[in-house]
Order: sequence, then structure tokens, then C-alpha cells
Amino acid sequence: MSDLYNLGFGKTENELYLQDIAVEGKIPDWLTGSFIRNGPGTFFIGQQQYRHWFDGLAMLHKFAFSEGSVSYANKFLRTKAYNEAMDTGKISYSEFATDPCRSMFGKVTAAFNQKITDSAKVNVGQFAQKYLALGETAMQVEFDPHTLDTLGYYQYETKYKQHVTTVHPILDSRHDEVYQHVIRFGRISHYCLKRIKSNGKSEVVGEIPVTYPAYLHSFGMTPRYLIIAEFPFKVYPLKLLFQVKPFIENYKWKPKDGTRFYVMDRQTGNVVGRLETDPFFAFHHINAFEKNNEIIMDIDAYDNADIISSFYLNRLKDSDLELPFGTLRRYRLNLRNQSVKWEQLSDECLEMPRYDNRHYHMDSSYNFVYGLSVNKSHIRGFYNQLVKIDITRQHTKTWYTANHYPSEPVFVPAPDAKSEDDGVVLTIVLDTENESSYLLVLDGQTFTEMGRAVVKQPILIGYHGQYFPEL
Ligand SMILES: [Fe+2]
Repeated sequence: MSDLYNLGFGKTENELYLQDIAVEGKIPDWLTGSFIRNGPGTFFIGQQQYRHWFDGLAMLHKFAFSEGSVSYANKFLRTKAYNEAMDTGKISYSEFATDPCRSMFGKVTAAFNQKITDSAKVNVGQFAQKYLALGETAMQVEFDPHTLDTLGYYQYETKYKQHVTTVHPILDSRHDEVYQHVIRFGRISHYCLKRIKSNGKSEVVGEIPVTYPAYLHSFGMTPRYLIIAEFPFKVYPLKLLFQVKPFIENYKWKPKDGTRFYVMDRQTGNVVGRLETDPFFAFHHINAFEKNNEIIMDIDAYDNADIISSFYLNRLKDSDLELPFGTLRRYRLNLRNQSVKWEQLSDECLEMPRYDNRHYHMDSSYNFVYGLSVNKSHIRGFYNQLVKIDITRQHTKTWYTANHYPSEPVFVPAPDAKSEDDGVVLTIVLDTENESSYLLVLDGQTFTEMGRAVVKQPILIGYHGQYFPEL
């Protein structure tokens, strides 16, 4: 674990551009786009260290494919948080669980105008005719997908005041529009769902006033509805106003509140359902669809929000750490009788879940979920294997190599795919024995290795990435 801790949660030594990296095995010729990932590039600034896996300064990684060969590049986002950290040698902006200026003097001017990070490190996306690095603050960062250079900021909407958002906007490709969730904090806070057209113009679909807003990392969408699962991990917004603690430490687990599903009509913005169920927590919604007068939501769910505190770096340093397991649950929302039922679809540990969202988004016929997992024979430490869950057959396939640590698996369908899992799964794996990383290409059907492309530098454990066929 100490090797993983030092290599996976340390700092990146070099920004690289490598034209042709060593390939072992075979990369399919049809893979001709680029795989771009986001994540922390360093947890150290001068003598200071960030506190949590979700802190750190954003770094983009790009693997580009051409006729079986692979190039690699990585680059820090040149944001204010990055530039000031480099100039001063100190952490200068508040991150998820690190607050650099909690002096008595700092608090007075902190109110909602504190130096909140602009280091958008969590995901990447392509919409509004831009390539964006996505973070949970309201300001996103545009980058050049060819050079990974930072181009400037992008805001979903300038007129509508907003404080936090999700890094999982949902594309509706049939209507060429993207939906996003933002929260505006105040005496009465608001969950707000927005629609962003391909020309960048955005509009508010609807708002939901709340007194104690929850921490929301993603949301759900079906053809007719937008759904917010409000977990009972909530904040009293004044605590954020006065920056009493680092951002996430102001949130408290309140299981007596249960979890509430807000169901909003996508056309009218009206809230047509407020459905309550047992308390649970999740970072990630997976697929959602409508079937037999029910809204079906597949969610990577936890019994509580303890997973967040498991990701503090001092916890990750502990080789005896056992992560709480998220598992694949199916929630059934019935609007007629306002009831919620749920079942667990797999007992495998699951995080960073993905599916073929190009072809099966909002589609009840989808059957495969790919994700990070923990090997049941090696449960101590960090996520150490990949899993493919076959929902219908209740069967799983796994990929595991001792002392190798994969990251989020991204499924890429083959051009003429004949089945849902006809394609490849891409991920970055940290090889702690060789102190390097590699892009791993798995066969989507067999979940076995087709090839790998090696980067002779460890890549820190990151978050989300996307495959862009057009790049
Ligand atoms: Fe996420």
C-alpha cells in the first residue's frame, strides 16, 4: 500500500509529449480517437500537502490512437489555483477537503467569495462546442484537445447565481442538448436543473427550494423526467458562508431524513414526484429509463456517506484500510402511488461505474456495467480490480493483477458493434512494481487484455475520462 500511496497519491514529475509509446499486444485498428482523462496532478505544493483524494491540482492525460500506435501527453490545467501555487509554493485555493486560509482574518472576507478552486479536475466533456475540464465549482475550464493547453473559463449561465454543480452533465443526443444540475446556496437554497443547447445557450428547466441542500455528485434522466436523489448528507449553508471547515466537512449524515427522489418533468419543469425511501448515499447514477409506468434508476449506492472520509490521504496511507463497498442497486419509482422499491443487482464492490451510454442511454435493454472494484481475496487497500457486471445473468467478470491499480474503465463500442459489449474497455493502470503506468485495452466481451501502452512515469490515481472518436 505504501508504494501505491507514494506513487498514486504523490506528484507528477514531468509534463510529457510522447509520440509513439511502447505497445504490448495489439490495439484495435478501429480505435482512432483520443482517450482524455482528468485527475489530480500533484498532492504536494512546496512543503504543503493536500488532505484528500478529491483535492490536488488538475492534470489532463491524453492517449491518442492511430493504426495500432499510441501517443501520450499530460499537462496541468493552468488555472489561478495552479499559477498561484507555483508562484508562492503554497496551497492558495480551497479544495474539496483542504482549506488553505482558515485564519480568523480570512473568515471575515470568506463569505461565498473565498478563493474556491478553479482547478477543474474531475471529468472532461465536449458540449457547447467546447472541450471542457469539469469540476464541482460553477466555473469550468476550456482546454485545447490537441495540445491540452488551458484556454479559459466557461460558465453554464452568468445571470443565474450558482455555487456548485455536478461533473456529470447528461447528454440527450436525440435533441442535441445537455442537462446539468447546479445548486445556489442561501437562506433558502435551490436545486436547479438546466438545459444547455449546442450553441451554448442555457435555460432553467426548473428549481426546487430546500433548506438543507445535500451533496450531489450526479443526477438521473429518463426521456420524460429529470431525477434528483437527495441523500441525507446535508449542509446548513451558513456554515459554507463562514467557511467554518473545509467544504465537505460542513456536511453531516442525517439518516433520519431518509433519501428523497425529486422527479421533475423535463418539458414543464414541474416537480411531479417527491418520493421517499431508506437513507443511502451515492456518487454515481448509472442508467435510468422508464418501463411499465415506473422510473427505473440504477445507482452505485452505499449505506451511508462514510466512503468520503475513507478517501483522506492519511486513511489511504493505512495498508489495513477497507473501503466501504458501493454496489449496483436498481431503484423503482412509481409516480402513481409515490412508492419506491429497490433491489441489489450485484454484490460486487462497484465505483466509477460506466456503460455504453452512446447507444443505451435511457434504454431499458442495457445489460452491462463496468467499474472499479475490490478483489474479494485482497480487500485491504484501494480499488485493485475492474469488474464487468452482467445484470440479466447476474454474472461478473473481473480483471485483476497484484500490485496493479486500475482507474475508471471506459467502454468504447466497436464501429459495427453486433452486441452491447462488442468493443473495448480503456483504463489507466498504475504498476507499482515498475513505478510506471499503462493504458490498458480490454476486450469488452471477454474482459481480457488485448494490449497495453506503457508510460514510463507513474500516473496518479485519477477520476473520470472520456473517449472522443473525433480527435
Ligand atoms: Fe464522478
